[in-house]
Amino acid sequence: MLIAGNWKMYKGPAETAEFCRELKHRDLGGVDVVVCPPYVSLAAAVQQLADTEIAVAAQSVHWEAEGAFTGEVSAPMLKELGVYGAIVGHSERRQHFGETDETVGMRARAALAAGLFVIACVGETEAERESGATEDVLRRQVSVLEADDNLVIAYEPVWAIGTGKTATPDMAQDAHAFVKSLVDLPVLYGGAVKPDNAAELLGQPAVDGARVGGASLDVDSFEAICRAAGR
Ligand code: PGA
Repeated sequence: MLIAGNWKMYKGPAETAEFCRELKHRDLGGVDVVVCPPYVSLAAAVQQLADTEIAVAAQSVHWEAEGAFTGEVSAPMLKELGVYGAIVGHSERRQHFGETDETVGMRARAALAAGLFVIACVGETEAERESGATEDVLRRQVSVLEADDNLVIAYEPVWAIGTGKTATPDMAQDAHAFVKSLVDLPVLYGGAVKPDNAAELLGQPAVDGARVGGASLDVDSFEAICRAAGR
C-alpha cells in the first residue's frame, strides 16, 4: 500500500521543514509514504526525512538531462538533490500547461531511465465519463506507459480532483481493474481522498494505494489516511 501526498503549489521550504519534522514522529500505519512538495521545497523535505522511510518526490520532471527549457527541472538534477521520484502527467499539468500523452510518456521514460520512481497520472474528465469515453481515454493515456518496477499509475478522475466529489468505491474498482487489464502495474486512486473515505476506497481489491491532494497538507489528516491504509 502506497500513500502519496501531492502538495501542488503549497508549502515553501520553511513550512515544508516544519511539516516533515512533525510527520516523521507520526504513526503512518506501516504503509509506504511519499510526499511531493513544490520544487523549491524538495531539499528541505529530503533533509528532514533523510533518516526515515518516507520518500520525497517532485511533481513533474523534464525528459532531457539539461538544455534550453526555461522553467523545467531534469531527472539528474532531482537525483542530485536526493529526490526519490516524480509525478508525471497530473491532470492540472494536462489542463493548464499543455501536457500531452506524448510528453507524459517522454517524462516517464526519462525519469525511469535516470533511476527515479514514477507516479504517472491518468483519468477522464466529467464530459468524457458522461459520454461513455472513460475506457477510451484511459486506454489512450496508458498506451504511452510501459510496465517497470519503478512505475505506478495514479487513476485520478478529473471531476473528482479538488472538487470534493469522490468516485464511489465501485467506480474506482472498475477503472482500476480496467487500467490493470491494459498494463500490469499498481494503481493508486486519487481525487478527494479524505480520512473518512480512505478505508472504503483502499479496501477495493484493485486499489493499491492513494494519491492525496488537499488532505495531505494537514499532518493530522495525512496521518489518518496513512493509518486507514495500513489497517
Ligand atoms: P485532491 O487532489 O485530493 O485535492 O482531490 C488529488 C490530486 O490532485 O492528486
